[in-house]
Amino acid sequence: MKTIFPTAKFQQLRTPFYYYDTELLNKTLQVAQSEANNYGYHLHYAVKANANPRVLAIIRAAGFGADCVSGGEIQAALEAGFAADKIVFAGVGKADWEINLGLDKDIFCFNVESIPELQVIDALAAAKGKMARVALRINPEVDAHTHTHITTGKKENKFGINLDQLGDILDELFGLNNVRLIGLHFHIGSQLTELEPFQALCERVKTLQAGLAKRGLHIENINFGGGLGIDYDHPDAHPVPGFGSYFKIFHDNFPVTAGQRIHFEPGRSIVGQCGSLISKVLYVKEGSVKQFVILDAGFTELIRPALYQASHLIENLSSDKKAETYDVVGPICESSDCFAKDIQLPQTQRGDLIALRSAGAYGEIMASQYNCRQLPVAYFSDLL
Ligand code: LLP
Repeated sequence: MKTIFPTAKFQQLRTPFYYYDTELLNKTLQVAQSEANNYGYHLHYAVKANANPRVLAIIRAAGFGADCVSGGEIQAALEAGFAADKIVFAGVGKADWEINLGLDKDIFCFNVESIPELQVIDALAAAKGKMARVALRINPEVDAHTHTHITTGKKENKFGINLDQLGDILDELFGLNNVRLIGLHFHIGSQLTELEPFQALCERVKTLQAGLAKRGLHIENINFGGGLGIDYDHPDAHPVPGFGSYFKIFHDNFPVTAGQRIHFEPGRSIVGQCGSLISKVLYVKEGSVKQFVILDAGFTELIRPALYQASHLIENLSSDKKAETYDVVGPICESSDCFAKDIQLPQTQRGDLIALRSAGAYGEIMASQYNCRQLPVAYFSDLL
């Protein structure tokens, strides 16, 4: 039976819901900021990981900028009080209205992923008599050794400009009047649990930078993206990810040139461990070969196990009886609505409270209304 949760209070709330540990979020933010400050690095929180308005407000108050991938995220960041000059805007498919929003708000930078996108940003900026600051998102062709659905830096991925096309896009860029190159952007993938691919990224960027220097180009801003993984198996042993060794890899492998600013876009590592999905057991069903724990939460509330075969630690908050083997499933009418197979849980019964841990990143934000379900509500530890 876990005691880190206010189980008595949970009993009074309608399940399923998200529960955020505000203290852990603040601690994580403080560690990330102070480790980044050691090297003068700039942090932009990846809004896609969790855009709950209060989560955003807390992150903004800790001094972060915002990394957005849609007009909606730019609006959410602005509403949470992020300064426009600390907002970066990435994404392979920026619609005209989204680019116009970024121009109207004077965001810090557009991370550009293709020549046609660059041309559209230039034309829309020209129509407003503005100069758009752009960074080129380069596909560094570094293998992140993570799940194929969340690998982004390989040659066959849709993201970024391939290394062999960089010369062409630079020629194009310097022929345009309403875009100004201010940097380079990279992101190799998410949930990286080894640091070695980040070292390979540093090597790649160093080589690239040396090549550009030969063209007389000095890169003012380098953005290394996000990707630092979290410990899904042992959230209580590692509640705060290893920001110290993460930033040190970059410090040791990427010497900053005079006047250069280094940026990062952490998402999961900031919000992952502070959030849990809290659910109730509707039924324990004895199949002929399996026992199923049927929860009132399904992939509509947490899609990661169904989409990426991700595993989240599952805890019974109401029972400390002898362990039995269960499949833990949701109520959605699809066989993929399964959180875990053949796991050990204390003997479980109808009404028990269940926590799905490490669900703060890509949990609430990826919820859907499939089967006409209601979107989950969220509670915060300091407001319960
Ligand atoms: N920057 C860019 C350009 C990105 O594409 C991403 C994530 C990030 C930053 C933040 O990465 P993080 O620090 O969170 O690893 N829904 C998937 C993860 C998708 C990640 C997409 N890009 C999941 O639940 O595992």
